[in-house]
Amino acid sequence: MQNSTINKVSTKMSFSHRDFLGIEALNADEISFILDLAERYVVQNRRRPQTNSLLKGFVMINLFLENSTRTRLSFEMAAKRLGADVINMTTEGSSIKKGESFIDTLKTLNSLCPDIFVVRSKEEGAARASAEIMECPVINAGDGTNEHPTQAMLDALTLRRHFGRLDGLNIAICGDIIHGRVAHSNVLLLEKMGVHIKLVGPSELLPPNLENATTDMQEGLKDADAVMVLRIQEERLQKSLSFTSDEYFKSYGLTEEKLAWAKKDAVVLHPGPILRGAEIDATIADNPKRSLVTTQVEMGIAVRMACLDLLTRYKR
Ligand code: NCD
Repeated sequence: MQNSTINKVSTKMSFSHRDFLGIEALNADEISFILDLAERYVVQNRRRPQTNSLLKGFVMINLFLENSTRTRLSFEMAAKRLGADVINMTTEGSSIKKGESFIDTLKTLNSLCPDIFVVRSKEEGAARASAEIMECPVINAGDGTNEHPTQAMLDALTLRRHFGRLDGLNIAICGDIIHGRVAHSNVLLLEKMGVHIKLVGPSELLPPNLENATTDMQEGLKDADAVMVLRIQEERLQKSLSFTSDEYFKSYGLTEEKLAWAKKDAVVLHPGPILRGAEIDATIADNPKRSLVTTQVEMGIAVRMACLDLLTRYKR
């Protein structure tokens, strides 16, 4: 692990975006700026006390209309580490269950005047629609198959800390690329940062006509510094797949044997939830020498603290 990037942080660069809706809107300098700021929060989070009062008196609404463990808790933890109050809302127990529309829900939440709004939805464009109604900054915590920008940022931070750089790395992203918002945000981010990406999976889970996509796992993993494994997004499939889960695991499930096709010390990332025996073998997922999964979760808090810090600067 290297930390040389920490000292290069400039707090002077202004971040001109009101919202954090996707990686698409960011350039490489802005991505580096957020990662550098997140490095500071990694340091803060490893010290005692972990909490500061930067956002004391601020209220964050965390609206999760899809299931989540890591992302929801990580946003909550990030806000609390900065001293903010958090209101969590899910479909369950809300008036959405009585038939209230998403837009009416947003209008109500806006009238509560939160300082920051985090939203996850199964609908693509839900974060953008939220930004049109909410008068405070909006962060996309995953909108359907579209984007999951804070996940891509935390993956990038994890990789940058491990390798000391992003530029020039070879990363294989394996699994359900077509339905995966994690894949989409990661491709956008990693390409902007000079990473060579290979997309690997069965043809029905790969976007068509991409030069860097392959259905051959061995070819896809060749020379990889890191392998990012993604779950099949069962909840987003339009039709049933032509292969069984056993067949999928045999061809694409990451095992010790397949990981040997990558570079000797290649590391493994997974955004979670991990389905051992479906897309990854337990021997890899649970091997601390190979798996960066728990580091990803730690980096998620720091990245989200950086986003909350940046987006609220106009008010402080
Ligand atoms: C991902 C998501 O929800 O898009 N998980 C996450 O946020 N950590 C990936 C997934 O559900 O497979």
